[in-house]
Amino acid sequence: MNEFIRDQLKSLHDKGVYRRLPINEGPIGPVISLNGQSVINLASNNYLGLANHPDVKAAAMQAVETYGVGAGAVRTIVGNMDVLERLEEELAVFKEEEAVTVFQSGFMANVACIPAVVTQGDLILSDAKNHASIIDAIKLSKAEKQVYPHVDMAALETILKDVRKNYNQVLIVTDAVFSMDGNIAPLPELVQLAKQYDCMTYVDDAHGAGVLGSRGKGTIDHFHLHGQIDFIMGTLSKAVGVVGGYIASSKEVKEYLLHAARPALFSTALPPADIAAIRASIQLMSQSDELQTNLWNNTSYFRSKLLELGFDLAPSQTPITPVMIYDEAVTMKVSKRLLEQGVFVSGIVFPTVVKGQARLRCMLSAEHTKEQLDQAIAIFEQVGKEFGLIS
Ligand SMILES: Cc1ncc(COP(=O)(O)O)c(C=O)c1O
Repeated sequence: MNEFIRDQLKSLHDKGVYRRLPINEGPIGPVISLNGQSVINLASNNYLGLANHPDVKAAAMQAVETYGVGAGAVRTIVGNMDVLERLEEELAVFKEEEAVTVFQSGFMANVACIPAVVTQGDLILSDAKNHASIIDAIKLSKAEKQVYPHVDMAALETILKDVRKNYNQVLIVTDAVFSMDGNIAPLPELVQLAKQYDCMTYVDDAHGAGVLGSRGKGTIDHFHLHGQIDFIMGTLSKAVGVVGGYIASSKEVKEYLLHAARPALFSTALPPADIAAIRASIQLMSQSDELQTNLWNNTSYFRSKLLELGFDLAPSQTPITPVMIYDEAVTMKVSKRLLEQGVFVSGIVFPTVVKGQARLRCMLSAEHTKEQLDQAIAIFEQVGKEFGLIS
């Protein structure tokens, strides 16, 4: 075996962070069958429970009958199905933005858009806690990069004052909801700075879409900033429950992306069944906010109970509920013990978060019942005491 890979694997074992991937043997729901064991699922991004919703499944099955299973080509050749065009129109209406361009995943949407809209002579200003897909997208672009301290708008302004004059375009990029902490970026202040210093804005709303704003329209709606962000990225894989990503933008940006965003040109378009499922999910979301209400009720219930027990929770503002453990190896052990007792929650360690900030990332969903949450809380209490995390 390659020596570099062997050393890397050994180091993962030595640090106690080597893991075997759990195997889910059924649909993703509040209770899952994991490696043959029925456990409460506190780990998925299926916020609204749409991944296994009967209407969404029926739409996918119907699309298979009508369109088959594959798009057959990239969009710019013959993979641009009518259902994909409909989806983009419907999503633009739902998001209250001029246009939407759909990509094959959220990761892909970032990698597609960022390198396409900036080039040599430009600067990207990126929040220190931005998602890996943004970091990789920036690496693919020809622009220079500077990282600003997490959500620190004063530091961002200092950088802009110093260097704005040296660049043609400046793109400020941020997660709307930070995926490992659950806090929300100060978008109104960020937009203000962008206007003042003539910058473009790029917001990754992977964890805000479906969760924040009226009917889950997202963080931009939450802050009433429609039409004020140049590029809004969203996923179709989390609250929407399927797979895919998109950029909501002006019509002109969409026109350009369909010529310049490499995943639109060089990777096969989404399959029709996924597109149909996404359309059904968006329709359900626009009809009622019941699922969103359940999600937020579950979030505040679970969070308040863990705080009462004395757990150290990161100050999240969303259903992402990080229980801070700090030590990486202990985090993995606690996660393993919780699983043995019947709760699956992922241990998050370096490189997903910086060293010394390891945590258990609990993800709430609209589908969890009070009984399931109470059971999970009781197991947390027992395991927390075993490990001395609470007294
Ligand atoms: C902030 C953020 N952006 C982008 C992505 C990628 O989205 P997808 O899973 O749809 O590729 C994720 C997924 O974890 C995310 O958390």
